Amino acid sequence: MALPSPLKDRLRLPVVASPMFIVSNPELVIAQCTAGIVGSFPTLNARPQSALREWLTRIEEALAKHDANNPEAPAAPYAVNLIVHKSNDRLAEDLATVVEFQAPIVITSLGARADVNEAIHSYGGIVLHDVINNRFARKAIEKGADGLIAVAAGAGGHAGTQSPFALLQEIREWFDGPVLLSGAIAHGRSVLAAQAAGADLAYVGSAFIATTEANADPAYKQMIVDSGAADIVYSNLFTGVHGNYLRGSIEAAGLDPASLPESDPSAMDFGTGPDAGSDAKAWRDIWGAGQGVGAVDAVAPAADVVRRLTAEYEAAKERLRLM
Ligand SMILES: Cc1cc2nc3c(=O)[nH]c(=O)nc-3n(C[C@H](O)[C@H](O)[C@H](O)COP(=O)(O)O)c2cc1C
Repeated sequence: MALPSPLKDRLRLPVVASPMFIVSNPELVIAQCTAGIVGSFPTLNARPQSALREWLTRIEEALAKHDANNPEAPAAPYAVNLIVHKSNDRLAEDLATVVEFQAPIVITSLGARADVNEAIHSYGGIVLHDVINNRFARKAIEKGADGLIAVAAGAGGHAGTQSPFALLQEIREWFDGPVLLSGAIAHGRSVLAAQAAGADLAYVGSAFIATTEANADPAYKQMIVDSGAADIVYSNLFTGVHGNYLRGSIEAAGLDPASLPESDPSAMDFGTGPDAGSDAKAWRDIWGAGQGVGAVDAVAPAADVVRRLTAEYEAAKERLRLM
């Protein structure tokens, strides 16, 4: 399982913090990278499009400053997320900006495209593509992705339905490149479990919503702290694609989580088209989160979350050593 060097040499914990619509901002990415894990954000969070250049400049300057002041603990590389879906009418412009900045890692979701991968490879960037099953995994690698993010059941935002074991077993039968595991990972022992099950790195989202840096309503952060797996509702009503959301936010919007109507994939839109208003509302008022939220018991700076995960990861390794 050969990890490309930006992922192998510069991480202090085998974790990539996942991109989250609205929630991820430069402050969170900088805090994650300087704490030693990959930080990431969806390019669509930088609005208008011209803000993407400012965000990337701010992140690169902050990481360079950190490296100059902390040569013994340099920052982990950052990643950007491109939504490769027909409803994303910013894709071409965002891709051009990503190529101009030579973003070290690019996470592609909701569509695999050879031309997008080629553009990122042109400057030596690494492409990780997220998939919810083995069929999509094969397609992503055929189109030229360097690695896979296996999004298993229980993940926040758009999630799969398969057990992480099933998904990793099938992918590892034919693919020995970089694989990340996503879904309800919010404790250091789960990071180690992801590696034991065949992943190289863990992909962690929801745990970083309850951080001081995240761009989330304080009530959203508190609901992450107060909720457990039983409070997560799986529905396709809000974006046309199945995802996991906090029950409390659905109730607060006046809906009954037990009887949500079905939607269809043609309803999917990423907030850049003419119906941007209604879609933005889906993520702003209906709050996404995965089943791992039970492990989060306080709103804290992202560096503290990384410290907690690291201590738990080391304790889990020690426990196994003693078994
Ligand atoms: C609020 C929220 C927004 C998300 N937005 C995106 C996104 O814009 N692009 C993307 O690729 N994944 C997105 N995700 C999915 C995450 O990248 C990741 O797969 C997931 O958070 C991992 O599961 P966990 O939250 O249980 O740790 C989002 C997840 C959440 C919770």
